[in-house]
Amino acid sequence: MTAANARKTAAIVLAAGKGTRMKSSLPKVLHPLAGRPMIAHVLATLKHVPVERTVVVVGPGMEAIAAAAAPHPCVVQQEQLGTGHAVKMARQALGGFTGDVLVVFADTPLVTAPTLQRLLAARRHEPGPAIVVLGMRLPDGGAYGRLVCDPQGRLERIVEARDATESERKINLCNSGFLVADAGLLFQLLDGLSNDNAKNEYYLTDVVKLARARGLACAVVEGHALELAGINSRGELALAENVMQNRLRSAALEAGATLIGPDSVFFSSDTRIGADVRIGPYVVFGPGVTLEAGAEIRPFCHLEGAHVGKGAVIGPFARLRPGARIGERAHVGNFVEIKNTALMAGAKANHLSYLGDATVGAKANIGAGTITCNYDGFEKAATEIGEGAFIGSNTALVAPVTVGARAIVGAGSVITQDVAPDALAVARGGQTNVAEGAARYRARKTGKGKAAPAPKKPSA
Ligand code: UD1
Ligand code: CA
Repeated sequence: MTAANARKTAAIVLAAGKGTRMKSSLPKVLHPLAGRPMIAHVLATLKHVPVERTVVVVGPGMEAIAAAAAPHPCVVQQEQLGTGHAVKMARQALGGFTGDVLVVFADTPLVTAPTLQRLLAARRHEPGPAIVVLGMRLPDGGAYGRLVCDPQGRLERIVEARDATESERKINLCNSGFLVADAGLLFQLLDGLSNDNAKNEYYLTDVVKLARARGLACAVVEGHALELAGINSRGELALAENVMQNRLRSAALEAGATLIGPDSVFFSSDTRIGADVRIGPYVVFGPGVTLEAGAEIRPFCHLEGAHVGKGAVIGPFARLRPGARIGERAHVGNFVEIKNTALMAGAKANHLSYLGDATVGAKANIGAGTITCNYDGFEKAATEIGEGAFIGSNTALVAPVTVGARAIVGAGSVITQDVAPDALAVARGGQTNVAEGAARYRARKTGKGKAAPAPKKPSA
């Protein structure tokens, strides 16, 4: 490794823009993509790039971004005077850092680590270009800045679309926003920026022209347009979500999952999938889901913050909410909602149930329509169901309550008291059968048939 190869890099992540075009009260870079904020994607990618340290530039009142960026330090850009001005704000926080600075836009979350590594590598040849910009080819560059190069392909300047002439707008090599330059040089050049342009902003992009005026060479590294798309509007966010979902679907298939209708399955960036998992069509994974090997998620399920054990079967039409822990080979069937509940190995809740704040022992059977009444309007309470217990259909378990191991609860019960292990509990109104009662009722209503008198009501 030569000295040049050993150059250290600091990243400056720009996140202070208001994101006006999102028409949102949420700062742009906090809008989620595959269940996590845009800026978190960028920071996760930077973990795979050799950067010494990272400083995030946020706007005033953007504490939520600072929280998402922790433990990286944040500096506040009080007024959004442009990308060049934003980079300057990080100077102090870098505290005399010597080495390269990588400028990263938090609104470009699809960028991958190999692309950033290629960008950094272009600065590692001595003598190399003073500034290297990450560019992309687009048939129509739209609102992106255009990279103006000389006939040898060396970068001369960057012109913003709004400031470009008609012929400059025809250039299809566009600016992704990412660039790398020596820290000392970059901050010197930033001091020379003017805001004499269409937006009256201090453009970061103008550092290229200033470097060229000093006779310094600048270069372009090209990346794939699909991963360098900037997100400025909800439309662009939706397109980026699609790109991200396709990546996650490919990764799931790669990891050994079967997806029957990949285009209808939506993952979070942290969804963890074991081998031989099967996922049917129309399944949505919110954040925090792990599927162990051999689990099956049947069509039309929604899972969030849930752990699904080996060989468990979920759905169709099931909902697992945060804290759902489904044991090995357990079954959760249609229209079953599970929250903060552990279903131990081999337990079954197959139809029309709500299980909240409960533990269900191994091989217990939860009958159709069973409801844990876990909330009294003020507090949540727990339900414990022992191993091998059988809860009859349409049972209401009024928590806090315990049903012991191997106990049986009769269908239609409202259980308010604990049931001992191996006991049988029935808690429902008794049944009255009135012979011919239906026939007499009909006759009375229609005037046809037997007109026998109605039985006397029991006197009070
Ligand atoms: C910018 C580039 C453009 C490039 C495009 C790529 C400039 C002048 N233009 O345009 O050449 O093609 O990105 O997506 O750099 N930000 C701040 N403070 C500010 C302004 C912006 O932190 O004062 C941040 C934003 O939060 C955002 C990033 O900088 O993460 C880019 O800002 P944005 O306004 O989206 O720039 P574009 O108009 O997209
Ligand atoms: Ca942008």
